[in-house]
Amino acid sequence: MEKITDYLCKYKDYIFAVGVTTAEYIDSLQNFEIRDTDVFLVTYPKSGTVWTQQIVALICESDFRDSALYPNNLERMPWLEYLEGRPDYSLRPSPRLFASHLTPALMPPGLRDKKAKIIYVMRNPKDNVVSYYHFCNAWKYLETPNSFDEFLQQYLVGQVGAASWFDHVRVWYSQRKQYDILFLTYEDMIMDLRSAVQQISHFLGRDLDEADINRVVEKATFKNMKTDPKANYEFLPEELLNRDKSLFLRKGTIGDWKNTFTVKQTEMFDRIYRERMGDLPLKFIWEM
Ligand code: A3P
Repeated sequence: MEKITDYLCKYKDYIFAVGVTTAEYIDSLQNFEIRDTDVFLVTYPKSGTVWTQQIVALICESDFRDSALYPNNLERMPWLEYLEGRPDYSLRPSPRLFASHLTPALMPPGLRDKKAKIIYVMRNPKDNVVSYYHFCNAWKYLETPNSFDEFLQQYLVGQVGAASWFDHVRVWYSQRKQYDILFLTYEDMIMDLRSAVQQISHFLGRDLDEADINRVVEKATFKNMKTDPKANYEFLPEELLNRDKSLFLRKGTIGDWKNTFTVKQTEMFDRIYRERMGDLPLKFIWEM
């Protein structure tokens, strides 16, 4: 891996936080055996991963996680690319659930056989960069930015963990036909959580009845997840997450960027967004 700062290193088309994984392990994913029943949740960081982990975990557990098999969503749906605490995935019962921020080039090629399912969640990049900025203040593996403006510049050139938002969304979207993949936006989930839960359960081939859909929706609201110790990631040790600075469940809204972006930053961002994404048919909701 090529070190680019004290906190970040580049490998192929991706940027990792230093210390979370190795090139050898990422290469070994090329031989990772995919099962037909596997489900992968793929996101650019701060796009609603923890939220969708909760929804998918709830849908896939017939007893709605009352079983003691997995203590929390991180263990239920571990991160494919990270080495710390990694179980032997070949021993896991099906359905295996994985989360990942990786690009298609680094993912197991078996996914292209369209047997396993991928859910890709994306978020409007103005709220995404603000959420990411707050997260960098709290997450040990990432450098605390000196200012929002500095972080925004790094984000726009893709010098942040997971590299460029623009490239991530584009590459997954443009290769979508090679996968059995469901695209969702964070904003659609905010606007109509019930429909999102129905869509996900249908995609996973687990059409739930009305009562079960209601249970999932109830357990996936921001308010309930905040106090759900299996879902809110507050079980992470203080050395990893400085809770005084930020949390995984921070605000959970659309349009928080308006409290952070200056007029100048907004104009610049809008121009860059048009240049880089204008040719794609993707529509985001930017404010309520
Ligand atoms: P904010 O920082 O804007 O509040 P990720 O899980 O990919 O790291 O994304 C984190 C973002 O998802 C945070 O956004 C967090 O508040 C939001 N989020 C998590 N659970 C949510 C929920 N149940 N409803 C709405 N937003 C949620």
